[in-house]
Amino acid sequence: MNTCVVGLQWGDEGKGKIVDLLSENAELVVRYSGGANAGHSVVRSKEEKQFALHLLPSGILRPEVTCVITNGVVLDPEILLKEIDGLAERGIKIANNLKISGRAHLVMPYHKKQDQLSENALGKDKIGTTIRGIGPCYADKVTRSTAIRAADLLNLDNLQERLIKITGLKNKIFAAVYGDKEPLDVDILMDLCRQWAKRLTPHLTDTTALLHKAWHEGRSILFEGAQGSLLDLDHGTFPFVTSSNCSAVGLSAACGLPAKAIDTFMGVVKAYTSRVGAGPFPTEQDNETGRYIRDKGHEYGTTTGRPRRCGWFDTVSVGYTIQLGGIDKIAMLHLDTLSGLKELNICTGYRYQGKSLDFFPAEADVLDKVECVYETLPGFTEDISGITSYAALPNAARRYVERVEALLQTPIAIVGVGPSREETLFRN
Ligand code: IMP
Repeated sequence: MNTCVVGLQWGDEGKGKIVDLLSENAELVVRYSGGANAGHSVVRSKEEKQFALHLLPSGILRPEVTCVITNGVVLDPEILLKEIDGLAERGIKIANNLKISGRAHLVMPYHKKQDQLSENALGKDKIGTTIRGIGPCYADKVTRSTAIRAADLLNLDNLQERLIKITGLKNKIFAAVYGDKEPLDVDILMDLCRQWAKRLTPHLTDTTALLHKAWHEGRSILFEGAQGSLLDLDHGTFPFVTSSNCSAVGLSAACGLPAKAIDTFMGVVKAYTSRVGAGPFPTEQDNETGRYIRDKGHEYGTTTGRPRRCGWFDTVSVGYTIQLGGIDKIAMLHLDTLSGLKELNICTGYRYQGKSLDFFPAEADVLDKVECVYETLPGFTEDISGITSYAALPNAARRYVERVEALLQTPIAIVGVGPSREETLFRN
């Protein structure tokens, strides 16, 4: 049984928690897109400090699971190795259980520099990226001649020759476009590459072949999406998106498996909406309600620490991403965060220039101007974080979940009432 877990909003839905739970029955857990811009928090129990993972698949906390980073990921070796060392300090050793595609592209220090230079130059029009070098690295992948892949670490002489050419070109671009006066130093970069090669080479594998073998042997594979479908490069709120196809549609190209290899697509949402970075957000509550949700839900970025923008649940945008990803089931997390709000609004439609829209607009400036149509339900005040069964939830909480489910016409199979594994309610 192969399952893909994907975010249906603008990221940070809690995919790490769902992947951690589902990985109990998985033999392989696969990270297939994005890079260290992702921040997947996993809380194993209430007593233990959370794990913040950026590149390692969330299944890494279970030693019996094989964790795979595929070709679609842009891999920052510096961050990956730091993450591996951080886990080792907490007693989690990583050896043969981590497989990395030689086809994965490497995020180099100059990609992060370029990300920062580009954002600075955009000024008030900036995208609000995570400055993790994601866009510049994917741009080099598309350019091809300036790209570096993990397998290039296997031939350091060749890599040095290429880096001399690449940095020469980047130096010219950085100086001419951004007025940057600090040229890149190939010797420093090569020192880093030598260290990375030593530590990463044992993990490099043809992950496409590995996944095909696992699929044909009937082993259970769990695919861990990064970011959220509304940040998808082609189908999200362009240009305020990330640089990969992070919705479910991106899975095949990003790991070399046909879509038919997936049995279930599980979409993850929060019981409300959050967004970090710039871009349209129709249900945003830039007011007391938004601040209440942010504080109660600890809505600050795992990767950048930035405060997240918060607002009501939006069935129009999530309806669109369900359709896009062929989503079979939903996990709705953070229901506990809504406790204490007198009324709960659900966005059921958009109006633009006085008319109802019956589709999710492709243009960011249209989405920015839509008016939301809301349905209001009574809120609940009880602390629901200790509740262990769906039936024990207050009536108003259940009514909210079931109304969202009816509007989305997709079963909500899991409800989260807190960050730890035990704070999860399964519905039939
Ligand atoms: P980038 O992926 O760093 O280029 O950032 C592009 C946009 O995607 C920005 O608005 C980021 O805040 C957003 N973004 C990237 N990764 C994540 C994530 O994991 N969670 C939420 N937002 C993200």
